[in-house]
Amino acid sequence: MGWLSKFLGKKEVSVSLEDYSSLAVDFHSHLIPGIDDGVKTVEESVQVVESLIQLGFKKIITTPHVVTDGYNNSNETILQGRDLVREALAKKNISISFDASAEYYVDETLLPKIKAKSLLPLFKNYVLIELSYVQPPLSVTSYIYELKTHGYNVILAHPERYPFYYRKDVSAYEEIRDLGVFFQMNLGSLCGVYGKGAQQAAEMLVDAEMIDFVATDIHNMKLIPAFTKALELPYVCKIVEHENLLNKQLL
Ligand SMILES: [Fe+2]
Repeated sequence: MGWLSKFLGKKEVSVSLEDYSSLAVDFHSHLIPGIDDGVKTVEESVQVVESLIQLGFKKIITTPHVVTDGYNNSNETILQGRDLVREALAKKNISISFDASAEYYVDETLLPKIKAKSLLPLFKNYVLIELSYVQPPLSVTSYIYELKTHGYNVILAHPERYPFYYRKDVSAYEEIRDLGVFFQMNLGSLCGVYGKGAQQAAEMLVDAEMIDFVATDIHNMKLIPAFTKALELPYVCKIVEHENLLNKQLL
């Protein structure tokens, strides 16, 4: 915890963090080499994992993109890649729980996988989904419905990064949350690495207490300095230590 505290609103929060050990689990990243737009080599993967350990994370569940027209990964390619990274970590005596799931892009090609119940969950029956940044899927409600009726709990990756949800208030977010969707915010959004719009939306969602999970969505070493600096950001302190945050459930 930080060395000094003050009152922000009603709740006492630290004004700086020593690390991200309060989050414990980072369950959104792209650390399997060569299968999406994340790390390119297993050495790079190991380097990022070492940095995440230094930042205080105790467990990593990496989530390669699954996009039919882009990164058409299967459970097999993902799990083989996970094992490759595990071997490399073991060779360097790096001790951390390293597992793999996926970040599923929502479009019609996802439906057969939902119906076959073949998605690779993060834990229990929780799956991570992402939307187009350009426009919402024609019927996001029906995809959520399909996922839920097939026994999945849905976590929406970085809701703060979708411009079509930007309003002066959180009404657009309330609509999707009312469908029973959990929200996972990217740490980098509060650091401004995705631009002002994402930062403002992230801050609004933190203030509205609508964030269930926080993760890095790290693709390579570039964001590590921003994450280190962010330990002193008031909004980062506020969300990382928030009592409602569910990250630790994935331990
Ligand atoms: Fe991602």
